[in-house]
Amino acid sequence: MKKMLISPSLLAADFARLGEELAAVEAAGADMLHLDVMDGVFVPNISFGMPVIASLRKASGMFFDVHIMITDPIRYIDGLAKAGADGVTFHLEAAPDTGAVIDRIRARGMKAGLTLRPGTPVEELLPWLPRLDLALVMTVEPGFGGQSFLPEMMEKVSAIRREAERLGCPRLIIQVDGGVGRDTAAACGAAGANCLVAGSAIFGKKDYAAETEAIRAAALAAIHK
Ligand code: DX5
Ligand code: ZN
Repeated sequence: MKKMLISPSLLAADFARLGEELAAVEAAGADMLHLDVMDGVFVPNISFGMPVIASLRKASGMFFDVHIMITDPIRYIDGLAKAGADGVTFHLEAAPDTGAVIDRIRARGMKAGLTLRPGTPVEELLPWLPRLDLALVMTVEPGFGGQSFLPEMMEKVSAIRREAERLGCPRLIIQVDGGVGRDTAAACGAAGANCLVAGSAIFGKKDYAAETEAIRAAALAAIHK
């Protein structure tokens, strides 16, 4: 049986109760925690940064999957490592030297992820796959939670899956982020994703465990069909 990792996005949590929200998704069976860091420049929104991640780090041993929407990301890799990030995913549009950012993330003992905006062709990401732990396909324009899933992005997921198989990268995590919920998870699984980010589909619901498992089950059912 293949695995389907679920990474709830804290952006949709109640920020007045972050510690409790983190404990709740952990108890609900989440595999990692997705933390969206936005700088107000690369995207037209500001979320949270290192001090919040460092505080949460003290409260949890979960894998912190940090998605940075930041211009010139290399400036913040050391700070993210110090704050307790386990993995950092950055935007190829934001970094003048993609390889240097990957190397810095790795040198700080973290897993390296790369992502792209919906409008950026997947061909720009494919050459980097052998150097990555995670490839993220954005299924909304980065910047805000609660937007609608862009199904046409599934072609990118399939292209990454095919190229990962061709190159022999069996451990690559192929993640999808934006508008993922019980209704859209199947398309992600069918296209070849093995890790789903879900913000508004989990937080704000009564039963986080039921939502987490429904998303996971829908994606897995599509793979094993
Ligand atoms: C958008 C973020 C997402 C966002 C997803 O810029 O990268 O992680 O929180 O939220 P939902 O699941 O509500 O689309
Ligand atoms: Zn994200």
